Amino acid sequence: MFKIVVLLSGEGSNLQAIIDKVSSGNIEAEIVAVISNRADVNGLKRAEKASIPNIVLEHTHFADREAFDQSLAQIIDSYEPDLIVLAGFMRILSDGFVEKFQGKIINIHPSLLPKYKGLHTHKRALENGDTEHGATVHFVVPALDSGETIIQGVVPVKDGDTEEILAQRVHEIEHVIYPQAIQQIISD
Ligand code: GRF
Repeated sequence: MFKIVVLLSGEGSNLQAIIDKVSSGNIEAEIVAVISNRADVNGLKRAEKASIPNIVLEHTHFADREAFDQSLAQIIDSYEPDLIVLAGFMRILSDGFVEKFQGKIINIHPSLLPKYKGLHTHKRALENGDTEHGATVHFVVPALDSGETIIQGVVPVKDGDTEEILAQRVHEIEHVIYPQAIQQIISD
């Protein structure tokens, strides 16, 4: 069975979309662990509810990024995953970590990359008067938000959109394309 480890830091709505598609058989894989760098977040509760082993590894308990990433890599290795899915994991990973798992880590970013790498993507799309916005699933490489694109989901930007409304619309398309991207990787 294809094994997935999910890393997150918060709400975990993308995790939920993936859990639901695993349950319905649309993703032919098992989520073997969910790891969060923050305690008490909703994503951990979602994992718990789905009976998925869930682990808290707080970055604040480590001296530096390398020490945290080393410990994270050890935990991930113990699950022998085929794929590492970043689902709202709000940490920059060290080059060493990314290189160790390169080709096996994917991320979802709330913009149509290469537009708007980094933060505040919805605000930037609105400020620029874009008529389209969306999300990108991509492989993770050392440079931030720069790896090969797997799938993009496009949504319209509508008159009167606020950052919150637009963010919500992008989130909905994320829940469609992230499971699709994962199943595409499994099939390939
Ligand atoms: C999403 O907007 C995703 O694009 C970004 O982090 C957010 C995670 O949301 N990388 P959730 O925790 O899955 O609800």
